[in-house]
Amino acid sequence: MSNKIQTPKFGPLSGMKVVFSAIEIAGPFSAQMFAEWGAEVIWIEHSAYPDTIRVQENYPELSRRNLHALSLNVFSEEGREVFLKLIEDADVFIEASKGPAFAKRGITDELLWEKNKKLVIGHLSGFGQYGTEEYTHLAAYNTIAQAFSGYLMQNGDVDQPMPAFPYTADYMAGFAVTSSVLAAVYNAEKTGIGESIDVAMYEVMLRVGQYYMMDYLNGGEMCPRMIKGKDPLYAGCGLYKCNDGYIVFEVVGGNQVKEIFNLLGISEYIGTEEIPEGTQLISRKMSASQLFEDKLDEYFEALPIEEALALLAKYKIAGAKVLDAHELQSNPQYIARDSFTQWESMEGKKVTGPNVMPKFKNNPGKIWRAKPSYGMDTKGILNELGYSEDSINELAKNKIINIG
Ligand code: COA
Repeated sequence: MSNKIQTPKFGPLSGMKVVFSAIEIAGPFSAQMFAEWGAEVIWIEHSAYPDTIRVQENYPELSRRNLHALSLNVFSEEGREVFLKLIEDADVFIEASKGPAFAKRGITDELLWEKNKKLVIGHLSGFGQYGTEEYTHLAAYNTIAQAFSGYLMQNGDVDQPMPAFPYTADYMAGFAVTSSVLAAVYNAEKTGIGESIDVAMYEVMLRVGQYYMMDYLNGGEMCPRMIKGKDPLYAGCGLYKCNDGYIVFEVVGGNQVKEIFNLLGISEYIGTEEIPEGTQLISRKMSASQLFEDKLDEYFEALPIEEALALLAKYKIAGAKVLDAHELQSNPQYIARDSFTQWESMEGKKVTGPNVMPKFKNNPGKIWRAKPSYGMDTKGILNELGYSEDSINELAKNKIINIG
């Protein structure tokens, strides 16, 4: 029987090999997308201690499914040798650290390309691989990237800024790593030359936070924050109260604006100089915007959610109920699309969580494996690299690897 690791063939990335070294959410979220779309993905944890995410009871069951777990001290002499062998036939290496942590210890992009010139390297950090001494080597989590990018000061309510939760910047950074790495893999396939990508979490959030900040950059107008869940610049957009809970809607579009003004009995404002026919959004700068907002509040407060949503659908106004966690699993759309699924943990426990996302029609992704335990695949991976049982045991004895 082979002791080597095995990955079933499925999905658009079948045959791709990805190695990653990162903890918590951002880097692993990126790597896990590869794993759910069919790549063989090796998760490197330190041989002295596991990824801090493992202290969470349920989340790792979702965020580490489909992975192979290798515990290795990458920066020891023998560990570095294992690591360099590992990336020889890899397509992608992703790492998340405080700035250029790998290069600082001699594992430069150039060294990696000596071993594998097609390798695509995704570096993820809070502040980037280069810049100033003051920032480049700093640690960063979600709130830090939100604060440093100007994203945080735009969120919350009029009275107080507040980070977007849960861990928005980590997921956005993960998406940026996955998409940029795939762009580089496409190019490496054509040219035979790899790439090194420098994803700074704050730059991801800077880009994500530009919608209103462009007004400040180009006209000096400060980005406002939401007003009790409503859009700061446009009336008729955001959170509204019905008589049995909250809904959201967005009155956007010429017909939508006209229909809702009719419904509210204020159609005389349409076709005026301030709100000409075809007006698509009601700016808060328009003098009738407060009246419009007050009428909306009054109208929807008297309606049950079901009726409000039916009305919005009739006028093709985008809207939704603000669902509680307990309503998700019984929602017919979730059920029809299998948005949630179940799988079995390594310990035999039934786990419920989001299904693979998005849905590929011709080469669907899948969940083929639960979260591996710490160090579980170390032996198999080293066997595959050609290490004998004796040398594996020696490395374990010297704490270069941990075999779980
Ligand atoms: N073998 C040997 N050394 C390893 C290792 C391995 N497999 N994995 C990590 N290390 C080293 C690191 O290089 C680091 O050394 P240093 O402190 O001398 O630079 C040390 O072990 C600690 O590792 P790290 O995982 O970076 O933990 P940390 O608590 O110091 O910092 C973060 C954690 C997440 C704040 C930091 O890694 C970071 O800013 N990452 C980039 C952004 C990010 O991913 N944030 C988290 C989003 S969810």
